[in-house]
Parts: sequence; C-alpha cells; structure tokens
Amino acid sequence: MSEAWEEAVPDRPVSIRETFDIDIEGEVLGFAEPSEHVPAIDPGYRFDPRTTMALLAGFSNNRRVLLQGRHGTGKSSHIEQVAARLNWPCIRLNLDSHISRIDMIGKDAIVLREGKQVTEYREGILPWCYQRPVALVLDEYDAGRPDVMFVIQRVLEANGRLTILDQNRVMSPHPLFRLFATANTVGLGDVSGLYHGTQQLNQAQLDRWNIISRLDYLSEEEEEEVVLSKVPLMGQGENRKILQQMVRMATQTRIGFEAGDVSTLMSPRSIISWSENYAIFGDVDYAFETAFLNRCDQAEWPIFLEYYQRCFGRTLSETGQQIWKRVSSEEEAGKVRAHL
Ligand SMILES: Nc1ncnc2c1ncn2[C@@H]1O[C@H](COP(=O)(O)OP(=O)(O)O)[C@@H](O)[C@H]1O
Ligand SMILES: [Mg+2]
Repeated sequence: MSEAWEEAVPDRPVSIRETFDIDIEGEVLGFAEPSEHVPAIDPGYRFDPRTTMALLAGFSNNRRVLLQGRHGTGKSSHIEQVAARLNWPCIRLNLDSHISRIDMIGKDAIVLREGKQVTEYREGILPWCYQRPVALVLDEYDAGRPDVMFVIQRVLEANGRLTILDQNRVMSPHPLFRLFATANTVGLGDVSGLYHGTQQLNQAQLDRWNIISRLDYLSEEEEEEVVLSKVPLMGQGENRKILQQMVRMATQTRIGFEAGDVSTLMSPRSIISWSENYAIFGDVDYAFETAFLNRCDQAEWPIFLEYYQRCFGRTLSETGQQIWKRVSSEEEAGKVRAHL
C-alpha cells in the first residue's frame, strides 16, 4: 500500500522571484504539503541564480542535473533547499567508497513466512526512489565505485528503465522521480590531487547528464549575510568587524587548499560554528580553536596560525592565553575558611 505522499502531485505554483530571490517572472510547481522526506527549510539560505535555475529545470522539466564545485560551495544544500521550497521529497545518497551495487539495487534475503524459510527480494535505495516522487541526490558522484556507476548509468536516461538482472525485473521510473548529483571534479579525474578517491568518469556517463552547472563560493559579503542570518549577534558593534575577519580567514584557507598548502578548508558551516562558539564562550580565539583548528592536522597548524595573523593582525591566543584559570589556592583557602 502506498502512502499519501506517494500519490501527491505538484500543483502549487511557486514564484521564482519570491521564493528564490531571482529577478525573473515565472513559476514552478511544487507539492502543496511537506511530507516525511522533504528537507527542512533553511530560512537564511542564499540561492545562487544560475545553480537554482538549473535545479528548477531539473525538477520541472525532468532534466538530470550535475552540480560541480569545490568542497563547501553549497552543492548538496542547494539541491536540498530547492527541494525544501518545492516540498519535493529528497533522498541524499553519499556515493563514497562504502556504497556497493547491492546497497543500490537490493538483494535476496531469507525470511520466515508461516514457519518456512523463503527468499525474498529486499529493495535497494535506487529502485525504492525510482518508483516514487522522489529527488535522489547522488552526492560525491565522482567518488562512486565502478560497479555502482554502472548501475547508475542505466537510470540516467530519462525514459530509461531500471533492469534488475538478478531479479529479472524491469521497472519504469515514476513520472516525478528526479535525479541529481554533486561532484568535486567534472569527472576528468583529479589533476590537482586535492580530491583523493575521485574516479575518472567515462564520457558516456557524463553525456547522460542534461545539465552540468558549476558553483563557486559565495562572495565575502554574501557569506557574512549567511552567518548573520544564523548568528545575529555577529552584527552587533565590534562583532561586525570580527565577522569580516572570520570570513577573510575562511577565504585564506580556501586559497591555501587550492594551492595544496593545507588539506582542510573552512566551509560556510565552519564559520557558522565559529560564530556560535564565539557567542557561547565570548572569545574569538578559543572559538576558532574549537570550531576549526583542533580538527586540522597539527603539522599544518603553523600555516593556519599565519593566516590568522594576517586576518586578525595578532597571533592566536596572544590576548586570550588564559581565558579561564583555576581559582588560586589562596582564594580557595579563603572559601574554605568562609565555610567553616
Ligand atoms: N548559499 C548558501 N547559503 C547559506 N548557506 C550555505 C550556502 N552555501 C553553503 N551553505 C552552508 O555551507 C555548508 C556546506 O554546504 P554544502 O552544501 O554541504 O557544500 P558542498 O555540498 O558543496 O560540499 C552547509 O552548512 C550549508 O548550509
Ligand atoms: Mg556535498
């Protein structure tokens, strides 16, 4: 038995201007109600016009859209946030090396039925989505294993069918099934050496994507707006300048990453955590250490500290060396006496 959301159709006009802040007239159709698999709306989200138009074509015109861009540019979240605005159920599948062909298509399993052991087919994630009004996002598409890519290749044709050889089953896609992917590279393998584990995608694979869109980092001003929408405290007084310095620091790490000097970069999420930690601890340096530095390779710390110096004009912890200290033994003794 199918659930109510599986029967729904997109019949609610959504204004592109009002919903995505893109300066054009036009509407796309979304579902009337959110359902179980619809991502939560991020109210401060900044839609990139080109990327968003590509994704809207994906949803409305059943185009297969591949988003390409560096780590943390907002590829996955763009797809999720467009889906959220359209109330389109959306399932994200990370194609990192742990996903196998069996996970994708399913397998036979032995189950007990009326006391007897019978083999039963357990549907994998791909056929499950394929037969429902679901946008499937293949995240880190360029990291997929060859056996997985082979399965995906067959569903890439919009009118293609999914054949599950092991099952002798042929499925047709649900008319509202949509397919998206994100990749760090454009499938030419990784010449830069920045993205380990990415595979070279063959041309036949790439040809099957109808729309390939590139996404870059937000401008520093826009990134500040994103942080302000999440942590309004950063707009108050002195904090405004601190926020600028934080965003500049993030830019430094991205330049360094690009150049191969460091292996970790600050995504917009890292700046948000940094700001949140600052709001909690009241100390920029400690907030930086806990939001970012402590998860970086120690061998690279000197480089990060140099970036920090460039952005803040002082060395890390120069002022906040000891933001907290233990009460001195004298004070402690005083307290003990007071108790007696
Ligand atoms: N345009 C944006 N507006 C608001 N937040 C963004 C934007 N782009 C990225 N982010 C935030 O940055 C983080 C990383 O984005 P993500 O979509 O995971 O990047 P990617 O998939 O490209 O690695 C997420 O927390 C996301 O919410
Ligand atoms: Mg991603």
